[in-house]
Amino acid sequence: MELLQAIYERHSVRAYEDRPLAAETVQALEQYIGQLNAESGLHIQLVKNEPKAFDCTLAHYGKFSGVSNYFALVGQDNAALDELCGYYGEKLVLYAQTLGLNTCWVALTYKKIPDAFRVEAGEKLGIVISVGYGKTQGKVRPSKSAEAVSDLAADSPDWYRCGVEAALLAPTAVNQQKFRFALRGEQVAAKSLPFAPCGKIDLGIVKCHFELASGKDHTIWMK
Ligand SMILES: Cc1cc2nc3c(=O)[nH]c(=O)nc-3n(C[C@H](O)[C@H](O)[C@H](O)COP(=O)(O)O)c2cc1C
Repeated sequence: MELLQAIYERHSVRAYEDRPLAAETVQALEQYIGQLNAESGLHIQLVKNEPKAFDCTLAHYGKFSGVSNYFALVGQDNAALDELCGYYGEKLVLYAQTLGLNTCWVALTYKKIPDAFRVEAGEKLGIVISVGYGKTQGKVRPSKSAEAVSDLAADSPDWYRCGVEAALLAPTAVNQQKFRFALRGEQVAAKSLPFAPCGKIDLGIVKCHFELASGKDHTIWMK
């Protein structure tokens, strides 16, 4: 399965089987994380066999169970961190899906366990993503229309339609989908809307989906 196909199969999963990640799966994840870190400058880490972060009232309230593995998205504490975490974290989410794993982005419903991962001087934990063997594959949730999040029209190019439609399948905080795309000649303007919780993380995530489905790269984005 390729990352693109994973876009159509991924749903958030919060209940996991009580079994450790297979050794070859861990190896594949570590290798992919190494590539993403080299490309982005992030310091993403796989935290394994650590059940404490999701053994708290907030996590139970958020309906998490059986979580003992997660990705800690750590990086330089600056204005670019959130969007970078969104973009590269979603690549990791989709890659995990291709390995038969399930995931859920988690901004709120967990507890930080400081000794479970490393945060160097000048770095910050952006967000975490639970990962493991889901009890289910999750489910399709309500979505806004392409017209509600973009200027997509009957005569828009196919690549633009594919990109916008894939962005609508992206996870966003509280499923708010507070982002907007606009075609500007050969380029696309993308922004998060005011008051979006985790708006910049969501923006990185939807840009990841858009690029994969449209076949474009980062040069598509208007500065
Ligand atoms: C940035 C971000 C933060 C999120 N934080 C939480 C969270 O704290 N707790 C939770 O249960 N789900 C969280 N989610 C998962 C969203 O609720 C979920 O992605 C959304 O409802 C869409 O559903 P889907 O992922 O199945 O498409 C978060 C998602 C994103 C993208």
